[in-house]
Amino acid sequence: MKKIAVIGAGTMGTGIAHIMAQYGLKVSIIDLNEKIIAESKRIISINADRQIRKGVINEKQKKIILSNIVFTKEFNESVKNVELVVEAIPENFELKKKIIKDLDLICKANVIISSNTSSLSISSLADKTHYPDRIIGMHFMNPVPVMPLVEIVVGSNTSKKTVDSINALTKKINKNPLVVKDSPGFVSNRILLPMINEAIETLSQGVADVYSIDQIMKLGMGHPMGPLRLADLIGLDVCLSVLKVLENGFGNKKYSPNKLLIKMVEEGNLGRKTKRGFYGYDKDPKKPYPIIFKI
Ligand SMILES: NC(=O)c1ccc[n+]([C@@H]2O[C@H](COP(=O)([O-])OP(=O)(O)OC[C@H]3O[C@@H](n4cnc5c(N)ncnc54)[C@H](O)[C@@H]3O)[C@@H](O)[C@H]2O)c1
Repeated sequence: MKKIAVIGAGTMGTGIAHIMAQYGLKVSIIDLNEKIIAESKRIISINADRQIRKGVINEKQKKIILSNIVFTKEFNESVKNVELVVEAIPENFELKKKIIKDLDLICKANVIISSNTSSLSISSLADKTHYPDRIIGMHFMNPVPVMPLVEIVVGSNTSKKTVDSINALTKKINKNPLVVKDSPGFVSNRILLPMINEAIETLSQGVADVYSIDQIMKLGMGHPMGPLRLADLIGLDVCLSVLKVLENGFGNKKYSPNKLLIKMVEEGNLGRKTKRGFYGYDKDPKKPYPIIFKI
């Protein structure tokens, strides 16, 4: 595989384009407007500088990464001749379904269409497309350049050939593919999100503050990051939509999103990307301060 397209230049699409370009693939990354596209390029440059400081890449490799990526608003031309599309638009079934339907018509016949969905059914996204055998989940973890896992989600019609190609590509970009069945939240978020939801419930009940909850899980359980800080990193809107998928998918109230989470999303406090969530990121994004919630 040599040429790919990434749709959506947000948190995940930007990281996916970066890592693919780092391992020599030619990438077109597509988003809706110039501002988002410029920001994506800026973030890749900053993250590549961080990799240089850590000795992961050198200056020459940074130049290669940036020259391997075309940042664009042009959808049709960018996806027409690629071998793989990675869809990384927001976690909304109707939006993703429409993009996959469009790709099904525009892309060449042997393309693999992958979705970075955190929780939506790959089989349902592939339903009524011409090539459901070539649709698969590639669930990257955030931050993509750092996290070594890609959860590979196999839909009911995904072919073995598609799974094999995606496994090989995932290894080529130095990540570990782990193959799972198509089930709400897959493995990662089915286990992670109830923990985050419970941390928010614990905060809502005033059992402890943001700082203490996160420190308890870090110092006591050996987690590298507390659940509330992790929720901010993932995006509270993403957390909310995954919990809704789990609740609806399993028909079980134990996954009902916490009221505080719903309120924060309604107020536009989505975590790190909006500079406010369970922590404030407006002073120094590297040193977020815990918000004091008056319960
Ligand atoms: N944030 C995480 O930690 C995380 C982790 C794993 C998977 N995911 C999944 O990855 C996907 C993307 O999440 P994100 O956090 O990067 O979201 P995001 O909101 O940061 O980025 C989504 C981008 O898609 C763009 N977009 C929307 N419609 C588009 C269209 N029609 N064409 C082109 N671009 C379009 C938006 O402008 C935005 O820039 C979601 O499915 C999410 O569940 C997120």
